[in-house]
Amino acid sequence: MSTILVTGGTGYVGSHTAVMLLEAGHEVIIVDNLANSSDTVVSRIEELGGKKIIFYQTDVRDVEALQQVFSRHYIDAVVHFAALKAVAESVANPLLYYNVNVGGTVALCEAMLKAEVSKLVYSSSATIYGVPKKVPLAEDDSESSMAVFNPYGRTKVICEALLRDICAADPSWSVALLRYFNPIGAHPSGLLGEDPVGVPNNIMPNLTRAAMGQITHFSVFGDDYPTEDGTPVRDYLHVQDLSEGHVKALDYLMNKTGIEAFNLGNGKGYSVLEVIAAFEQASGQVVPTKMEARRPGDVAISCADPSKAKTILGWQTKRSIGEMCADAWRWQQMNPHGYQR
Ligand code: UD1
Repeated sequence: MSTILVTGGTGYVGSHTAVMLLEAGHEVIIVDNLANSSDTVVSRIEELGGKKIIFYQTDVRDVEALQQVFSRHYIDAVVHFAALKAVAESVANPLLYYNVNVGGTVALCEAMLKAEVSKLVYSSSATIYGVPKKVPLAEDDSESSMAVFNPYGRTKVICEALLRDICAADPSWSVALLRYFNPIGAHPSGLLGEDPVGVPNNIMPNLTRAAMGQITHFSVFGDDYPTEDGTPVRDYLHVQDLSEGHVKALDYLMNKTGIEAFNLGNGKGYSVLEVIAAFEQASGQVVPTKMEARRPGDVAISCADPSKAKTILGWQTKRSIGEMCADAWRWQQMNPHGYQR
């Protein structure tokens, strides 16, 4: 059993991972500024994990506050989720994204260095691959920061580089860079799910809201891509599978040093129309859809080669697209207005 600090632990992926860490027998300390989440999540994590956690409403950029957390608790390892992830917002307000995503990671690493905590799981993204030159994408297909389309993506490339530099300078560090493909779904209990502030960007919150009648229709962003049905293909994975990947990555870090990147995806892509069909089948709802223009920055196909994670971490996805949709729908029905911040 270890004590794990989870930054951004009340967010979408962070909250599901916190429950899994509790279930795996770990102690969990969460640091989150609640910028895109709610403190309701803390009691839900405790209810699902069957154990109390320690929660600090703290901004990850606040080095002094982080240092206090590290001095108050013996922390074995950190999982760093706290970041912003809305692509369009990052284009409009790049400074905010560099400040929170890069500044937050710098502050966290400084506090870890002082506290001599050197094990870190970092939330990276498939966005760092830019326009895929081939699919499926292997870990060494990553691009330079300027080949990535937007400031959000560049902050992920920069944080990966920062962590590589830290590991090169201090061989006692141990870091796993987890490159997420497209997490969707929710906790099967319906108690945890994706609850973005404002207008959602991602596919599943838009689908579930259209099915509920909260928005008039689901906009399909482009049907003229070079894919089988003309809509973009993504490697969707259940957030529960993704969370298990973090628990496995922590196990792996416990007995090694150095830095490794892992793709977390299922290796199979689904088009937007296939996701809509799977969702309609799982929910029994008909989703009103409207074909619209391409969304700037979208690529035709993104799909992982997840074999490295399977070989080294012993991780692979287990849950189907039907389960992803059914669980997202349950979450939306049980929480029609999210956590009601
Ligand atoms: C997006 C970001 C990515 C980020 C990830 C996590 C872009 C270009 N990429 O990935 O950098 O890491 O979210 O938050 O924003 N779609 C619709 N209608 C909708 C919403 C989405 O048709 O209302 C389509 C998109 O065109 C895309 C697919 O659904 O083909 C998935 O979209 P989304 O869930 O936003 O994920 P990504 O764009 O892959």
